[in-house]
Amino acid sequence: MNDKIIKEFKDRFHQEPSLYASAGRINLIGEHTDYNGGFVFPGAIEKVIMAAIKPNGLDKVRVYSVDIKEYVEFGLEESDVPAQSWARYIFGVCREIIKREGIVLGFDAVFGGNVPLGAGLSSSAALESCFAFALNDLFNNNSIGKFELARIGQSTEHNYCGVNCGIMDQFASVMGKKGQLMCLDCRSMEYEYHPFDPQGYKLVLIDSVVKHELADSPYNKRRQSCERVAAHLGIDTLRDATMEMLDAAKSEISAEDYSRAKFVIEEKDRVLAVCAALDAGDYETVGRKMYETHEGLSKDYEVSCEELDYLNDIARQCGVSGSRIMGGGFGGCTINLVKDEQYDDFIATAKEKFASKYGHEPKIYHVNISDGAHKIQ
Ligand code: GLA
Repeated sequence: MNDKIIKEFKDRFHQEPSLYASAGRINLIGEHTDYNGGFVFPGAIEKVIMAAIKPNGLDKVRVYSVDIKEYVEFGLEESDVPAQSWARYIFGVCREIIKREGIVLGFDAVFGGNVPLGAGLSSSAALESCFAFALNDLFNNNSIGKFELARIGQSTEHNYCGVNCGIMDQFASVMGKKGQLMCLDCRSMEYEYHPFDPQGYKLVLIDSVVKHELADSPYNKRRQSCERVAAHLGIDTLRDATMEMLDAAKSEISAEDYSRAKFVIEEKDRVLAVCAALDAGDYETVGRKMYETHEGLSKDYEVSCEELDYLNDIARQCGVSGSRIMGGGFGGCTINLVKDEQYDDFIATAKEKFASKYGHEPKIYHVNISDGAHKIQ
């Protein structure tokens, strides 16, 4: 992939570029907790978005996507927003750096990657983080802190892409470390790295290949529900809520808002339980919590879908230790914690059963926890 992107850059722009990459992410547990001030447990993965970039001395950006096979040019003023949705991620990152009084001048870029789109692996965060990291290096002497680079990606989603997301995806994409998951407290923004090398188990993603579209979507509505309940309880975020507080307010809020908040409060405790179980090497407890999360995401938060519930059922039937829908929901992958000796049977069964019900095989991605944003050359 490196060679292909560099060759395309040289063919188009006849210059020698620098090459940067940033990663997609998994999340072991802690879903829809980030924008509620709770905990998340993500890690960067081996799949990346990669960009060849070089300043061009002009006042515009010229960029080509090797995967979409489209070329776009845009200026750097707020009114120059491009029509193509993929280009808005890059434009947004430029604008968010400029808003923070960072420097972005004209540049040429060619990018591509192997983070599957719409699979819940945060290809958009990888794209944002790759450009944020590169523009910090090329124009700002790396003076913008890494955490701020993640915030630049998050603000891009809010202000240019219509998704009112939390910080998890961009945080994981920028801060990821090989072999380590990160427990992030999304209220204090403190985080710890946890080595993740479960002896005797594998982590595997099963992609239903059902696509989700988060803009203008139920994702923002879920967030609004949570904010309504927090406001009703007189607290900043659901991080400070307990089930007792929620139950006391049950008759004053809608049944739907109640279910959403219930999931978030329960999920908060599950992340901490998983943290403790991991430190004790107790992967069966980790797995049990993953099933509980799936149940909550499916029944209370209602962000699953038939295909993902089916994949979760297959995992249970195969005796897999843990399985759940991963990411924002509305399609994408399940993440599965599988004992080595069950792995082959589980994958074969999942492929066969899913294909006979939905007419196509799911895609299988073996997870390798890897480094986040970095310069390649
Ligand atoms: C999406 C968002 C994240 C997070 C997850 C759900 O991936 O971008 O901020 O809210 O959904 O956990």
